[in-house]
Amino acid sequence: MRSIIILCVFPALIFGAASINVKRYPVELQQTYDLFVNRCSPCHGLESTINSQYVLPSYYKEMVQEMKELPDSGISQSDADKIYEFLVYDAYKRHRRELRDALKALPPEKKEQEQQALKEIRDKYQS
Ligand code: HEC
Repeated sequence: MRSIIILCVFPALIFGAASINVKRYPVELQQTYDLFVNRCSPCHGLESTINSQYVLPSYYKEMVQEMKELPDSGISQSDADKIYEFLVYDAYKRHRRELRDALKALPPEKKEQEQQALKEIRDKYQS
């Protein structure tokens, strides 16, 4: 019994969480979370996205677009747009300190662009 528990907990300690608790997220984003899991897990695990130290909106925008453009990604533009919004919102909720530090390190103009992108999502989902 103990070894089963260790086997289950160990990967989570090494690789970080493999899922997100979205119970308190707006309903629309809870649906987008399902879309994220469906569209983004056929080729690799979700850990690297969920536990990423890169949390700026521009990173998510480019990364999701890059994944969409892979051959046979099965990701539409509308999927990509929604998943981008989910990841920005999620970073604001779960990685706020990293987000603040990343913003602080940017030159003023770039910082303003990132803050504007973040504000759009926060306004849209009222958080
Ligand atoms: C068709 C298969 C496929 C799908 C679907 C896919 N990925 Fe990827 N992903 C890859 C491959 C291949 C790599 C490594 C090569 C690369 O970075 O281009 C990768 C790399 C990554 C990385 C590593 C960092 C980086 O920027 O390269 C992240 C994060 C990531 N994917 C997230 C996602 C997310 C989020 C989605 C859903 C929107 C997604 N992936 C959907 C194949 C896929």
